[in-house]
Amino acid sequence: MFRKMIVSVAVGGALLASGAAVAGDPERGEQLATTCFACHGAQGRNDSPQYPQLAQQNEEYILIQLQNFQDGSREDPLMSPQAAQLTEQDKKDLAAYFTAQTLCP
Ligand code: HEC
Repeated sequence: MFRKMIVSVAVGGALLASGAAVAGDPERGEQLATTCFACHGAQGRNDSPQYPQLAQQNEEYILIQLQNFQDGSREDPLMSPQAAQLTEQDKKDLAAYFTAQTLCP
């Protein structure tokens, strides 16, 4: 009985750590995001059809896309190298930052 409880707590913790819950720090994300601004525009806003707007985008969507670029399930010659070096925390913090920006300043 006690053993079962330990197992279920461990499984629950692993699910949380795998990104089921998004818990990013937008202030740290802002510092990381300066490299992203070169293509996606300041605060993730731009007028170019080539680069997706990141401002105000859904937080979990951003996180999932960064994971997809990292694991190769989504590929782009410009974007894939940008995602390659990001840690789990980096991705969460960037997602938290961009979702908090507005498309119309
Ligand atoms: C060298 C240019 C460049 C830089 C720098 C760059 N990106 Fe991108 N990014 C792109 C391009 C181009 C796409 C669109 C790829 C496609 O069409 O599939 C993209 C797509 C994305 C997407 C998917 C958006 C969507 O609507 O599906 C996310 C999220 C993203 N980038 C986040 C970031 C973050 C976070 C950074 C900074 C760590 C960053 N990008 C830096 C060029 C760049």
